[in-house]
Amino acid sequence: MQYALNLERTPMTYKSGRHFLQIPGPTNVPDRILRAMDRPTIDHRGPQFARLAAEIADGLRPVFGTNGPVIVFPSSGTGAWEAAIVNTLKSGDRVLMFETGQFATLWKRMAERFGLSVDFVPGDWRRGVDPGVVETKLREDRLGAVKAVMVVHNETSTGVASRIPLVRQAIDRARHGALLMVDTISSLASMDYRHAEWGVDVSVGCSQKGLMLPPGLGFNAVSEKALAAAKQGGMPRSYWDWEDMLKNNASGFFPYTPATNLLYGLREALAMLREEGLSNVFARHARHGEATRRAVRAWDLEILCAEPAEYSNVLTAVMMPKGHDADAFRTTVLERFDMSLGTGLAKLAGKVFRIGHLGDLNDLTLLGTLAGVEMGLAVAGVPHRAGGTQEAMKHLVSSAQS
Ligand SMILES: Cc1ncc(COP(=O)(O)O)c(C=O)c1O
Repeated sequence: MQYALNLERTPMTYKSGRHFLQIPGPTNVPDRILRAMDRPTIDHRGPQFARLAAEIADGLRPVFGTNGPVIVFPSSGTGAWEAAIVNTLKSGDRVLMFETGQFATLWKRMAERFGLSVDFVPGDWRRGVDPGVVETKLREDRLGAVKAVMVVHNETSTGVASRIPLVRQAIDRARHGALLMVDTISSLASMDYRHAEWGVDVSVGCSQKGLMLPPGLGFNAVSEKALAAAKQGGMPRSYWDWEDMLKNNASGFFPYTPATNLLYGLREALAMLREEGLSNVFARHARHGEATRRAVRAWDLEILCAEPAEYSNVLTAVMMPKGHDADAFRTTVLERFDMSLGTGLAKLAGKVFRIGHLGDLNDLTLLGTLAGVEMGLAVAGVPHRAGGTQEAMKHLVSSAQS
C-alpha cells in the first residue's frame, strides 16, 4: 500500500508554539521552577523539610523588605487577606479603605462579612489612594476608632499603583495609631515594595504573580505592632492563626501539612530573584511598563490609569474605543494568536482589556505580546493607529543597558 499525505484541512487540536499567558497573574511559570517542583514530596516533619523551610524564610524576607516574620499559608491571596483581618481586628472595629478597583472592593466586602465597620472612600477606578484623604479622615478620628487603614498597592483590575510611602506619611502626620495593611499581591517581586521601611504592619502577598509560581501560597509579612494586636485580640481563628504558625515555624515546621512542592518552587523562584537582583527585577518591570504605555499611546488608545505618577509597572489596562467590546477583542486574540489577555473586571467588563507584563518576561516576550495585541486590533477591526509595537521597540532599544 502506498503512503499518501493527507493535505485536507483537519480541525486543529494542537497549536504549535508556546501559549502567551499575558494576564496579570497567574503568570508564566519558568521551566526552572516547574523542574524544581517535579520532585518527590518529602516528610514535612523531617530534617530535610526543616532545612527547606529555613531557606525559604531567609529568602522571603528581603523580597518583602523586612527582617521580621513572613508567614506562608497554603492558600490563595484571598486567604491571606482573611488571615490579616482575623488576626488583628475584631467584629465592630472601624477600618478605612479606598475604592481603587475590584480587588479593593472585594477586600472591603470580606471586611464587612467579618463585621468590620468600613469607611469606604469612593473612587473612579482610575486613581490610587489619596494620601490627603487618609490624613483628613484620621485627623477627624480624634478618639482613635479607626483600627486599620487597608489599601491595595497595585490594583490589578485597573493598573493603578497607590503610593504607599505617602499613605504612611499621611498616617504619621495625623499622629494616628491605626495599623497599615497593604495588599502587595500583584506588586511583590515586580515593583519596589518595602514592608519595614514603609511602616507596613501587615503585607498580604501570594505566589502566582511576581514570584512566577502557580497559585497556592498566600503570605503575611507582619510587624511587631501587628503581632501585638494579634496577641491582644483579633477574631476567633484556627487555620489562619499566626501564633500557631510562628510557633511551628521556629523549628522549621508548620501546624498542618504545607504545600511542599510549591515550596520547592518558591525556593527556586527566590534563587532566581537573587540571581537577577531585586533592583534589576524592578527596573526590568519599569522599562517594560513604559514600553507598553508608549505602544498604547501610539495606537491612539487610552490608558485607564489617569495619574502618571501611579502607573503600574506590572500591567496596563487599555480602554476600548466606544462601540467595541473588549472581550470580543480578547477572544479574537486568543483564537488567532493563542494569547490570553486580562478581562475587564466588574464594572470594567467589556470596557477594558489588561496587558500583563510581569513575572518571567524579557524584551522579546513583551514585543511578542504587543505584536499580538496590535495584530488583534487589526483583525478585530478596532480603530487604532498602527505602529505601537514599533514605538515599544524603539524604547527598548534606546533604554537597553549595554
Ligand atoms: C490585588 C489583588 N488582590 C487580591 C487578589 C485575590 O487573590 P487570589 O485570587 O489569589 O485569591 C488578587 C488576584 O488577582 C489581586 O490581584
